Formats: sequence, C-alpha cells, structure tokens
Amino acid sequence: MSLKTIAFYNQKGGVGKTTLAVNFAYLGARNGFRTLLWDLDPQASATFIMRVDEKLAPKAKDILGKNVELEDLAVRSNFTNLHVVPASIRLRLLSERIFENSKPSSVIERATKSARSTFDLIVVDAPPSLNALSDSLLGAIDLLCIPLQPSALSAHSLEALVTHLKSASLLNRSIAIYNMVDMRRISHRQAVQNREAAKCLQLLDVVLPYSADMERMATERNPFFELHSRSNVGKALEEMYSSLSEALFNPSKAPKAK
Ligand SMILES: Nc1ncnc2c1ncn2[C@@H]1O[C@H](COP(=O)(O)OP(=O)(O)OP(=O)(O)O)[C@@H](O)[C@H]1O
Ligand SMILES: [Mg+2]
Repeated sequence: MSLKTIAFYNQKGGVGKTTLAVNFAYLGARNGFRTLLWDLDPQASATFIMRVDEKLAPKAKDILGKNVELEDLAVRSNFTNLHVVPASIRLRLLSERIFENSKPSSVIERATKSARSTFDLIVVDAPPSLNALSDSLLGAIDLLCIPLQPSALSAHSLEALVTHLKSASLLNRSIAIYNMVDMRRISHRQAVQNREAAKCLQLLDVVLPYSADMERMATERNPFFELHSRSNVGKALEEMYSSLSEALFNPSKAPKAK
C-alpha cells in the first residue's frame, strides 16, 4: 500500500482542525492503517489531546534536515497503529525557517516521503495560518480537509483561501466540511441547506453538529470514540472518515467539484 497524506487545514482559527484530525487519525488506525498524526501547530493541541509529552516534540531544524526521518520523530500513542509526531512552542519559527530554506516547497514533502515504508496514512493537524509552512504543506499532501463553521466571517475568510488554492492548483485536492453546526440558528440552517460552500469548492454531504461531547475531548484528553459510544455525532464522524478515506485511497470515486 502506498502512503497517503491528509491535512486538516484552514487559515481561520478555532474551526475544528485539531478535533477532526485527531478523530480521523484514530479511525484510520482503528481501520488497520499504520497511522501517523503529525502535529505541526506550536499550540500543540493534538499533542495535548493525545497525552503525548510536548518535551518529545522536534525542533524546527529536525524537520528541516535534508536527511529527516519522520519515523524517528514519532512517539507511540496509547492506541494500536497510531503514532504521533508531537508539537510544542519550539515550532513557532518553523514557517520562517522554511521560508529561508533553499527549497521551501519540498520541506514537508521530504519529511512525509521519508515515512512511506513505515506508515500507510499521515494525518496533519495544521496551524491556522497562510505562510511558508502552509504552502509547503499544501503542496505535499494528497488531500486537504477544510473544516468550516457556517458563519459570515467563515465564508469571508474562505473566499481568500479558495482564491489561494485555485492559484496554486490545489482546489481539486480540497474538500470542505461544515462543523459545529447548530440547526436552531437561522444562519447555520441557511448555509447548510443551501450548501453555500459548495459554490466554490467540494463539500462533504455529512455535517458535524455542535456537540458538548466533542468539546469535552479537550478536557478529557481522548479521541471522541474513547469517551462515547455510538451517537449521532459518532455516526457523523464515521461518515466523514469514510468519505475522506474513499477520496484518499480511491480518488476516482471521490466527490467531484460542483
Ligand atoms: N463539533 C463540535 N462541537 C462542539 N465543539 C467543538 C466541535 N468541534 C470542535 N469543537 C471545539 O471548538 C474549539 C476549537 O476546536 P479545535 O481546537 O479543533 O479547532 P482548530 O481549528 O484546531 O483551532 P486552532 O485554529 O486554534 O488550531 C475547541 O474547544 C473544540 O473542543
Ligand atoms: Mg488546532
């Protein structure tokens, strides 16, 4: 099996990148893929949820090295098939270092490729920024999942992101998903029912509701499925997993841009 890579990314903060990346990686591992969750955000939120020690996080120079071996930066998690490359505040200058690198576009690709015999799936939790790090990341991954909140400001920031993705020819590798949806709110209902984001990029049919159980992942420090048995939210996460993994492992069947 050849290595597949997916990043959860949006320049906008607080939309659910970490929450979805952790659950996607957990489900990938549970489905038998040798999975690596790569936390690239100096906030280290995924590292925290996965209970991995931030002191084990690489420095920027470890990632930038020509002979980088991502496997050597990975730490075993509490779950079968799931390793984590942790993050810490040490990564705060990674983007600047990538910018100064002689080949900025290949930094992340070099790292992911180094792991192709050890892992089947790399899931990246990206920071909320549009800079040299995100450019290097977006150029290296097979699929980009963009969590969106159905709000006016989210739609506004999506416009700029879509323009950027289009100019970098990345739109056909990008899929959005609505997260934290509260159907009691008119603006949320409108955005979801009209599939507003689908006007400019691919959008998953499944919608992730606002859920106190999802929010608790951060305090209980575990993936959703370790805390809760099946529920509507669990089913929606599983549907998200199966649509995205189909698009990753079976791209000919991936949803087409609308
Ligand atoms: N479906 C959901 N229902 C309720 N709360 C959610 C849901 N998804 C995420 N959250 C909560 O929203 C907050 C932001 O989520 P998260 O940290 O995953 O976003 P992020 O995009 O990674 O943020 P950042 O840009 O800071 O990295 C967290 O408190 C998280 O627990
Ligand atoms: Mg995050």
